[in-house]
Amino acid sequence: MNPAGGANPRKARRERIVRKADSAFGHPPETIRFWSAGVRAALKAGAQTPFYLFSPQPVAAALQRLEAESFGRPAVHWLSTKTQPLPELLRWWRAQGRPAEVVSEAELKLAKAAGFDVETLLVNGPAKHRWLARHSEPGLRVNFDSARELRELLSLACRDRWRVGLRLCTTEEFDPETPAFPTQFGFTPDEARSAVRVLRRAGLPVETLHFHLRTNVAAPDCYARALNDVAAFAAEAGLTPKHLDIGGGLPPAHVLSRAGKRLDAGISVRSLALAVRQALKRLPSVEQVWLENGRFVSAGSGVLAVQVLDVKERRGLRQLICDGGRTLNALVSVWEQHELRPLRETAGPETLTAVHGPTCMAFDQLARKPLPRAIRPGDVLMWFDAGAYHLPWETRFSHGLAEIWWQDNGRPRCVRPAG
Ligand SMILES: Cc1ncc(COP(=O)(O)O)c(C=O)c1O
Repeated sequence: MNPAGGANPRKARRERIVRKADSAFGHPPETIRFWSAGVRAALKAGAQTPFYLFSPQPVAAALQRLEAESFGRPAVHWLSTKTQPLPELLRWWRAQGRPAEVVSEAELKLAKAAGFDVETLLVNGPAKHRWLARHSEPGLRVNFDSARELRELLSLACRDRWRVGLRLCTTEEFDPETPAFPTQFGFTPDEARSAVRVLRRAGLPVETLHFHLRTNVAAPDCYARALNDVAAFAAEAGLTPKHLDIGGGLPPAHVLSRAGKRLDAGISVRSLALAVRQALKRLPSVEQVWLENGRFVSAGSGVLAVQVLDVKERRGLRQLICDGGRTLNALVSVWEQHELRPLRETAGPETLTAVHGPTCMAFDQLARKPLPRAIRPGDVLMWFDAGAYHLPWETRFSHGLAEIWWQDNGRPRCVRPAG
C-alpha cells in the first residue's frame, strides 16, 4: 500500500505531475453537475453499466465557439460523421439545417436515413470507386482522393454533374506516429496537376480544394503551411476554387496527452481562424470556408459510465477492475487522458490508481491517476469526453457492446441496447 505522497520518491513525483496536469484540465463544476445528473437519471431509468450517455448540448456549445470567430468568408461546419456515427446526433444536426461529411458507404446510408440529401452531403475519403457508383445523384458533392478514383468515377461524375473537389496531400500532412512519412490521402502536387487536366477536359470545374492534416493538430502554423501549399497550387494550376475545405483536426478542450500536456495548449479556434483569414488573401475566388471538425465538436458530448467490480492493491498501485474500459469502450485512452471521477461524492485521501476494464489484457487500462481511496466495488465512474471516436472503435471483446443513452431535452433514453 502506498498512498499518494508515500515513501517512494519517484512515485510521489510521478503523482505530483499527474495531479498538476489534472487540475489544469478539469471540467467546470456545471459540466460535472450536468453529466452527474444525467448518469444518475439514466441509472434510475434502468441503465446498465457500462453505458455511454450522449447529449447534443455540448455539441451546440462547441459550434458556438466555432461560430464566434470569423474565417474571412461564410463558414460551413460539416458534421464529421465518422467521429460520432450516432443516428440521434445526425438527426439533431440535420434539424439545425447543417450538412454532413461522410467517408464510406455505411456513413452515407446512415446520413441518408437521418434525412441528409444531396444538398447537405459531402463525400470524402479514400477508395470511393469501390462503392460510390451505387449512390450517384445529380449534383452530388465529392472530393476526389486519387487518380484511380477519378478515372473510375469520371463518367458518372460527368453524367450527374457532380460538384467536385480535390483533396491535396500538402507537405504538412504526415503520419503522426512516424512524421518522416506522408499519409496515404489525397493527391501529390504532380497527381493533382494531372487531375486538374482530366477534369478540365471533362468540363467539370474544381469547385473545392481540400486537405485534412490529421487529428489533434498542435499549432495554427501547421494549417498556415498547408494553406500556403494550397494557395501556391491554385495559382500555379490556374484554379479559382469556390470552397476551401480545411478538414478537421482541432483538438478538444479538457483532454490531455498521456504525457500530461493539454492537446489544445498551442491552438485555438481564434488562431486557426486568423491563419485562414490570412491565407484567403491569396485565394480571392473562395466564397466559403468549409470545416469538418470531429473531435472538437463532439468529444465533449458524452461520458462513459463504468462500475467498479473488484479492487486490488499491489506494488504501491490500487487497481479498480470495472465492467468497461479501454478495450471495449475507449481506445482513445491509449493516447489521451480524460477526466475520470466517481459519481458518488468521495472525500478523503487519494492514491495512485489504475482503472481497468474487464478483458484479459494488461492493455485494458482506462487511466492511471490519483483517485480517492474511498472508491469501492459498486461505485460508478464517469470517463469524460467520450463523444469522439469511441463508438467507431468500440469492441465486443469477450463481452459485447455497451448500452447507449441519449439525453436531449428531458430524461435520458436508451437508444441502443447492450449487445
Ligand atoms: C477528411 C476528414 N475530415 C475530418 C476529420 C475529422 O477529424 P478530427 O476529428 O480530428 O477533427 C477526419 C478524421 O479522420 C477526416 O479524415
